[in-house]
Amino acid sequence: MTHYPSTGRQYLPAAGSLRIDNVRPYGEGEPVSVLVEDGTITQLGKVSAAADTVIDGGGNVLLPGLVDMHVHLREPGREDTETIESGSRAAAKGGFTAVYTMANTSPVTDQPIIAESVWAKSQALGLCDVHPVGSITKGLEGKTLTEFGMMARSDAKVRMFSDDGKCVQDPQLMRRALEYAKGLDVLLAQHAEDHRMTDGACAHEGATAAKLGLRGWPRVAEESIVIRDALLARDYGNRVHICHASTTGTVELLKWAKDQGIPLTAEVTPHHLMLTDDKLVTYDGVFRVNPPLREEHDTLALRQALLDGVIDCVSTDHAPHGAEDKCVEFENAKPGMLGLESSLAVVAKIFVESGLADWRFVARVMSEKPAEITRTPDHGRPIAVGEPANLTIVDPKHAWTSDSAKLESKSENNPYEGEEFSAHVTHTFLRGNLTYKLEK
Ligand code: DOR
Ligand code: ZN
Repeated sequence: MTHYPSTGRQYLPAAGSLRIDNVRPYGEGEPVSVLVEDGTITQLGKVSAAADTVIDGGGNVLLPGLVDMHVHLREPGREDTETIESGSRAAAKGGFTAVYTMANTSPVTDQPIIAESVWAKSQALGLCDVHPVGSITKGLEGKTLTEFGMMARSDAKVRMFSDDGKCVQDPQLMRRALEYAKGLDVLLAQHAEDHRMTDGACAHEGATAAKLGLRGWPRVAEESIVIRDALLARDYGNRVHICHASTTGTVELLKWAKDQGIPLTAEVTPHHLMLTDDKLVTYDGVFRVNPPLREEHDTLALRQALLDGVIDCVSTDHAPHGAEDKCVEFENAKPGMLGLESSLAVVAKIFVESGLADWRFVARVMSEKPAEITRTPDHGRPIAVGEPANLTIVDPKHAWTSDSAKLESKSENNPYEGEEFSAHVTHTFLRGNLTYKLEK
């Protein structure tokens, strides 16, 4: 047993030793070797030591294992669409070593026992650390706060609370949640949507929705909650994390809040970085998502905000849904898209292949920052001697075409079907254990 003191948890690391040859940490410099013993990096550089297992990294990019602070693995309740196991396999294939699964399960994760069962299952599987997110309100009903303390102190050590899927609409309840969270140093993540403005809405309020006859979700429904929560964070002194930022206005408000020193953080999804509401013209339910796909200027503002650090990180909001909920009239389709198996390729395409940023940036926004915001100390760590071997190897030039039939996820609501990408994960390691390998 290795005990990483930072978490207080015990993990079973890989028994024995592993040598990964011919990899370039952060895509920089000449290829090196990494020696991993009992789940920890013990040598880095020119390594001559023998090892039980030797893997040739093919000269590819070595990154810290990716961390996704926003997924929906649907267990308990909708195991027909995703389970901890299928979601963990999808995560490992996407290069992730830790994910946070949202509380809008059935039953809702509003008690320690549900959180503990999610965590225990993920640890028994050993494919990815699946951290349960607790709900802010009982049953996601927006009325009564859950017992943050009991969930935080449970074996699941819940460190993030969110009613994601729904917004905590009542400002007084959000204020009380902030005060409660502050004492425990847990994070509140807000799904920013004033539901009074989005009743019946299924698309971004704009020219496309008007043309298609779809009811619109205005930007202000998101932005009004972002500014409200920024002011609550300022006055009641605790962190708030904004889920899936989607508008140019949200970017402006985040910048304002950060300039004031307000402890607000934010994420953006790969689909809001890549896709716009033009996709809706076929009325394909796969493109229904909350918040909705917006317009080009929003996409460009979100990209720039991520580059500038105004938005802290990328989260997939991986939201599996079955065909019965997606292959229906657009307004009846459930909102949500898959993301775990494509996010690295999407981010690489937009930022690395375009020359806007490098692999250090990818490591920052997809691993280090989300680990920092969630205080997940064993992940998002530097690639260095003494650190846990949570690692991902990426081939930046492995041409592939997105194909829903080849996904590890149990669902097929993949918005990138037929899209061509270059970057692909070749190996993922969780504490030195191989959790994914690309079959050539
Ligand atoms: O599109 C979405 N799907 N947005 C959310 O906030 C919830 C999610 C889901 O659970 O399907
Ligand atoms: Zn979500």
